[in-house]
Amino acid sequence: MADFRADYSKFTVEDLGWDRVPFTDVDKKVTDLMDFTGKTVIVTGAGGVGLGRALAHRFAALGAKVVMNDINEEGLMKNAKEVEEKWNTKVYPIVADLENFDSVKEFFAKANEALGGHIDVVINNATHTSYGPFFMFTEEQIDTTVRGALLSVIYCLRCACDYMIPQGYGKIVNISSESSYSKNNENIVLYAATKSAMNGLTRGLANELAPFGIMVNGVAPGLMFHDQLRYVFDYPTEENLGVRQTMCQGVADTICKRPSLADEVANTVVYLASDANTYIYGQTILNGGGINVF
Ligand SMILES: NC(=O)c1ccc[n+]([C@@H]2O[C@H](COP(=O)([O-])OP(=O)(O)OC[C@H]3O[C@@H](n4cnc5c(N)ncnc54)[C@H](O)[C@@H]3O)[C@@H](O)[C@H]2O)c1
Repeated sequence: MADFRADYSKFTVEDLGWDRVPFTDVDKKVTDLMDFTGKTVIVTGAGGVGLGRALAHRFAALGAKVVMNDINEEGLMKNAKEVEEKWNTKVYPIVADLENFDSVKEFFAKANEALGGHIDVVINNATHTSYGPFFMFTEEQIDTTVRGALLSVIYCLRCACDYMIPQGYGKIVNISSESSYSKNNENIVLYAATKSAMNGLTRGLANELAPFGIMVNGVAPGLMFHDQLRYVFDYPTEENLGVRQTMCQGVADTICKRPSLADEVANTVVYLASDANTYIYGQTILNGGGINVF
């Protein structure tokens, strides 16, 4: 890379990096650039009912070879079977606790083997957190949140480097939260702060890893809704009043006045991880229906 602080009168267009511009993509369809046939993907936290599951479906549907991870074996196996049956493909479910560094190292080794020796995409989706007023948090709640929402992601990012740097290619998407941009974080202040830290990691690592051919970005979902959350409205109680209130306020703050499906967030993640994204680096894109637009 040319040093533009030197005498730039001597520089040529090649010094701009013009030789690395993806001219060959111009004649391709965007849909072809978003084809994941031959690509390998890891989705963490894919054993729940939310975004991880939706991501596994989206990537499998686009032809990717997918490793699905979760600490919850039952949910993981159920979701893996569902993805395989729906898209007539094979996925690789691997149970691992991402809050332990040794177990993350072992997980990446197994995933790499299952995926045939290359890991093209890592989606850091898994989260484990505590809820409640910060001033009442116990040591255990603090540790749970920092370990489950941040440290686990740091471990995965560190291990992803070991595989992606030697192969000279990689796309990483960190799942953040719109709360990382907000001050209205009742009961999730520490969780929101871990997501803000994640946004910082996304920015810094995008810069550090770009020379190795690795692109790092993030997506910050707003309120994702799924059928299992309906019960709080179908069966309103005094106990679930707080949850209903949080959801209603969350929706009121959006521009489109509705919650999203996890699948709508997954679309943005898939785009960032695809070959259609060649020029977005270090961003955490708000996918929240216009919430927190500033
Ligand atoms: N649900 C929302 O409205 C919302 C809003 C903003 C951001 N997010 C973020 O989106 C992501 C997905 O959230 P979701 O609510 O869709 O949940 P999800 O269905 O994707 O489930 C997360 C999964 O992570 C797994 N997990 C927890 N700890 C783990 C560990 N130590 N090792 C391995 N797996 C572990 C859980 O078992 C769970 O299945 C999270 O990063 C979350 O912070 C969610």
